[in-house]
Amino acid sequence: MQLPLPLLELPEMLKVEDKATFSDPSFASNKLLPVHRWVPWIAGFSSNFVREILEQKLSEPGTVLDPFAGVGTTLVEAALAGHDVVGFEINPYAALASRIKLNAHKLSSKTITEETVRLRKFYSRTIPNGYSPKSEFPIGFKTRKIFYSPTVLRKVLTIQDFIEKLNNRQVQEVFKLAFASTMIHYSNYSYEPSLGTRSAAGKSDIEDFPVINIIAEKLETIALDIGWLGERAMAVSSKCQIINASFFDCQNHIEAASVDLAITSPPYLNNYHYIRNTRPHLYWLGFAKEPKDTKYLEHQNFGKYWQTVRALDNVNLDFPNPPVELVEQISCLRTLNIERGIYGGNGWANYAAAYFNDCYKFAKYLEYALKKNSSAFVVLGNSILQGVMIPTDRYFGQIAKAVGLELVNIHIPRSARVGNSIIKSDVRVVKAQKSHCLYESVVELKKHA
Ligand SMILES: C[S@@+](CC[C@H](N)C(=O)[O-])C[C@H]1O[C@@H](n2cnc3c(N)ncnc32)[C@H](O)[C@@H]1O
Repeated sequence: MQLPLPLLELPEMLKVEDKATFSDPSFASNKLLPVHRWVPWIAGFSSNFVREILEQKLSEPGTVLDPFAGVGTTLVEAALAGHDVVGFEINPYAALASRIKLNAHKLSSKTITEETVRLRKFYSRTIPNGYSPKSEFPIGFKTRKIFYSPTVLRKVLTIQDFIEKLNNRQVQEVFKLAFASTMIHYSNYSYEPSLGTRSAAGKSDIEDFPVINIIAEKLETIALDIGWLGERAMAVSSKCQIINASFFDCQNHIEAASVDLAITSPPYLNNYHYIRNTRPHLYWLGFAKEPKDTKYLEHQNFGKYWQTVRALDNVNLDFPNPPVELVEQISCLRTLNIERGIYGGNGWANYAAAYFNDCYKFAKYLEYALKKNSSAFVVLGNSILQGVMIPTDRYFGQIAKAVGLELVNIHIPRSARVGNSIIKSDVRVVKAQKSHCLYESVVELKKHA
């Protein structure tokens, strides 16, 4: 077996800050905050981080863009601060979550509370009394292991019956979100952080669970937060656009030079599989009915997935003047662990090349969307593939410069990040060298005047 490559020496291309300029961008703190706490999202980032940038960069109301909106952290914070917002999100479940959050101030917390009480009553009337639910397990949703035990499934389907009968579409969507955001808890799967069976993670299966409590508690939290939003008069006047499409399609949705500030975090080069990890949500919410529906999303995803490119002969960098060091790293990667076939270096080199090709497209479309003199903040993590440390932030910064954006700075708010486990489990790398630490950066860009 070949040894992992040493970290390539990179020339000091730009100033990299070694002290924190911004708060930690990771999502953990959102778990307790109104609205942000509704839907957990593996790579969401913190609302404090977004707020600080908004305060520093936009003294007047403007238009804020998030090209990879996830569950809407940037968009919610920007709307709360009175800005117009536009977000792109390819995953229909995440896009739904963003849309519900951004329109939540139009809902009545009283209605959500009353319907939650009705749901509790319906459940306690039906579950002990041999009720046979009419709703069905989604056709097409196949799992290696039984997803819900029969007892849990009956409870889940009973709740679906109630949700189906709700007349108010917006309220119904909130109930669907409350179900979707909790649905893994009572299944035989868990996030580790990728979705896998509980048994593979050493946890016991779930035979029975008080499903009503977790869903009703979620709804009660949502009702409380809607009240909180009402007190803040969440920029009712601001325009909110959530586009459930790829950002690479942005020219069909937004005008050139229409954005005052972009704050975003695209998928990292760690092969975290947003689509597979939300398969239950996509099927149960009716966004997917058969495998081709999720395949399509995989191919549209920023950076592709290793699984979609690993068996191809050679995916090369296909944009003008790629960073020389990146070209070298990809060539080196190709030569590693050839004996492992599609699991070896060539597959990972293909994945890295596909990822940076999308970085180029991203930078081009960012340049298209931004007004002159306006800024973009892009949170990115570095990566370790087959033992090779790939400084994604620096390469992205160089690529952005090449498309005509100014690379203002690369801020490093913290030096280690959660995600080590993703790198080690999903990406199946040769054990990373100790010197190769994972970090997260904020790449600050500006469109020239
Ligand atoms: C790191 S997450 C963003 C999380 C977000 N900052 C938050 O706080 O929720 C990256 C997101 O990009 C989305 N995505 C991937 N490819 C995309 C594309 N081509 N266009 C738009 N969104 C995409 C993924 O579905 C994922 O939700």
